[in-house]
Amino acid sequence: MRTPTFDINIVDTPCYVTEEKYLRQNAEILRAVKERTGCKILLAQKAFSMYSTYPLLREYLDGSTASGLYEARLGREFFGGEAHVYSPAYDMRQLKELINYADHFVFNSVRQYDMFRSFLSGKECGVRVNPRFSTQEGHEIYDPCAKNSRLGQTIASFENDVSKYGLDGITGLHFHTLCEQDSDALKATAEKVERQFGKYLGGMSWINFGGGHHITRDGYDIDTLCEVIEHFRDKYSLTVYLEPGEAVALNAGFLVSTVLDVIDGAADNEPDKAILDVSAACHMPDVLEMPYRPMLLDSELSPSGNVGEKKYSYILGGPTCLAGDVIGGYSFSHPLKAGDRLVFCDMAIYSMCKNNTFNGMPLPAIYYAKNGKAEEIKRFSYEDFIRRI
Ligand SMILES: Cc1ncc(COP(=O)(O)O)c(C=O)c1O
Repeated sequence: MRTPTFDINIVDTPCYVTEEKYLRQNAEILRAVKERTGCKILLAQKAFSMYSTYPLLREYLDGSTASGLYEARLGREFFGGEAHVYSPAYDMRQLKELINYADHFVFNSVRQYDMFRSFLSGKECGVRVNPRFSTQEGHEIYDPCAKNSRLGQTIASFENDVSKYGLDGITGLHFHTLCEQDSDALKATAEKVERQFGKYLGGMSWINFGGGHHITRDGYDIDTLCEVIEHFRDKYSLTVYLEPGEAVALNAGFLVSTVLDVIDGAADNEPDKAILDVSAACHMPDVLEMPYRPMLLDSELSPSGNVGEKKYSYILGGPTCLAGDVIGGYSFSHPLKAGDRLVFCDMAIYSMCKNNTFNGMPLPAIYYAKNGKAEEIKRFSYEDFIRRI
């Protein structure tokens, strides 16, 4: 488990702190995959777009990918290198702006490409395909292969479009089907894609394996990942792209919080509760959306939510009005009290770029820790709240 290298007591809470050291360790793993296979790796900014770290990441990665107009602009202005974009449907107004920022456009269908092709001269264009082959369970919301998916074309739909519009100008295929998975899932998916779309790959120059590869997680099978990349590289002479988000900043950041109050549950025969200055709903929305219970430094996740392995158990919750603003049940070897600091782990990804100000909650400040010191990068205010409403 990665622990903070900075003093958790001197930052202002709530705050996100990203650690340069851990970001670099992840980037080195990704660079090794590039060096071994010749693939290209892009940062998926949807997961992590703390752009003050882009100069570091740019030392290792080939560019960035965007899901929306502003990410595309951010990638162009702050990341550099290759700038890719994918959207389930482009809008003409946005596309006219996007062409200033992106050089690779991935379309959701051959038909979408046909609608916009006349504006895209000089751009690399590809189509997202969908093998409809689920390798994950329990998170339909994160499964592009779930029933009735709108993300990418099945082989039947793709071939329908090809017969109508042709493939002229389409130089690559893209698939994204994984979420926090190992390379066995990629291998099985890639086999499916090859079986279905293989006959088109000879005419392409690149293939993009999307994100969801947990490459920087301990125990991830990098050899299998490299074999899959090398197979497509050698058999079809393709440039292979990966566009991980999570893997870039996995376990590279913390959310530091303070206990505001502790509610004694004994009178109601309930567990004790602690109210923190961080909210699941506002500051770590994936905790509710996935849902999952984030790791907390110096604590054990209590399996049932209220009975822990350590002596003192609490349900931790946020300061909003939402009844479900609950982070989870945790246990500690010491009783909690107002003023205690609690540090949530793996909080660089899908946090800063996804948070919100519901209830008028202030946004946590953003810090960057280098050489054991956390430096404040950004602080938010009332103006950030009112400008959006
Ligand atoms: C098209 C696409 N590419 C890349 C990613 C990044 O995925 P992850 O952060 O899980 O690596 C996503 C995530 O939803 C995605 O939809």
